[in-house]
Formats: sequence, structure tokens, C-alpha cells
Amino acid sequence: MANLNIRRAETKDAVPMAEILREIGWSEKRNNMPLEEVSEPLEKLIEHCGKDTEGHTMIVAVDEDKVVGFTTVHWVPFVMLGSWEGYVSDVFVSPTAGGKGAGSALIKHVMEEGEKRGCMRLMLTNGKEKPSYQMGFYKKMGWTERPKVANFVYYYREPWS
Ligand SMILES: CC(C)(COP(=O)(O)OP(=O)(O)OC[C@H]1O[C@@H](n2cnc3c(N)ncnc32)[C@H](O)[C@@H]1OP(=O)(O)O)[C@@H](O)C(=O)NCCC(=O)NCCS
Repeated sequence: MANLNIRRAETKDAVPMAEILREIGWSEKRNNMPLEEVSEPLEKLIEHCGKDTEGHTMIVAVDEDKVVGFTTVHWVPFVMLGSWEGYVSDVFVSPTAGGKGAGSALIKHVMEEGEKRGCMRLMLTNGKEKPSYQMGFYKKMGWTERPKVANFVYYYREPWS
């Protein structure tokens, strides 16, 4: 992508970000909701990250004025590490723009920012059934899979319920 630009997410990006989530189609429930019901909570999350840039970085990849992808990273003070860990919670690129370098550009941006901040490491989860895992997206970018770590979550409710 010749004109790919990475910038901070703005509230106006909520709709294209919601559209990308629906294009990816991981949630039937989300895909069947009105678009504004998907974009409204995203707008609040964008606002939150925009107000606390020390704690969070939410960025979008823009090609020819069109938002084609986004990622979010949270800068976590981690006592055991005696340092900071960047937790990457979202990495999404529109399938219509996939395979052209936007995903790698977003992750590279996060990796550079973590280094500038003096973080000890970055962390993320990646579903093993997803093409990104099977095609070694993160390994190609120098990330290491941890064989001994289980990933636990505690649910308060189902996503988009
Ligand atoms: C994973 C994802 C972000 C990759 O974005 P992208 O813009 O297509 O990635 P890039 O074009 O930068 O490609 C990077 C590498 O991944 C490979 N790749 C191509 N299609 C891919 C796909 N669908 N999924 C993963 N990796 C892919 C490419 O071959 C490329 O490797 P190469 O440089 O050796 O050719 C994107 O496919 C996506 O949003 N997937 C759905 C959501 C997801 O799985 N997110 C990550 C887990 S949280």
C-alpha cells in the first residue's frame, strides 16, 4: 500500500472500525445488530484512549483516506517484571485490504512505541484456529509463543450482549 498512514484513532473512526469488525464476521450477533449499536460503544472506547494516551494507544491504518485497520495497546505497569508490558487487545484489518502490509505496519508501530516507552515486553492472545496463527503472522514479526502459559478469562457476560 503506497499511501498507508498510521495515526491515532478519532471518534469519527468508530463507524469504519465497526464495519471492519462486521466484515471479519467473527460474531453473528454483532453482524445482525444495527451498525450504530456496534459503533456507539467503540466511540466511547476511542474517547477513553484519546484522553489517556499514557495508558493506551489506539491507532488506525489509513489508505487513501479510508480506515483499513486498527489496533489497540494498553501500557500495563507490571510489578513482577519491574517494568511495563504492552497488552495488545485488537489487531484487525479489513479483508478487502488484507495481505498488503497494513497488519504488519500496525504491529510494527506498536513494537516501536513499546521500545520508546522502555517496556520490557508486549503480549497478546491469538486464536490457534485463526489464519493469522496458522500463517505465523506474529512469529514472522519476531514474537515468541509461550508454551507453558495458559490463558484464562473471567466472563461477566457474553460479548455484544
Ligand atoms: C491478521 C491480520 C491483522 C493481518 O493483516 P494483513 O494486513 O493482512 O497482514 P499483512 O499484509 O501485513 O501480512 C503479514 C504477513 O501475514 C501473512 N498473511 C496473509 N494473509 C493473512 C491472513 N489472512 N491472516 C494472517 N496472516 C496473513 C502474509 O502472508 C504476510 O506474510 P509475508 O510478509 O511473509 O507475505 C488480518 O488478516 C486480520 O485482521 N485478520 C482477522 C483478525 C485477526 O486474526 N487478528 C489477529 C489476531 S488478534
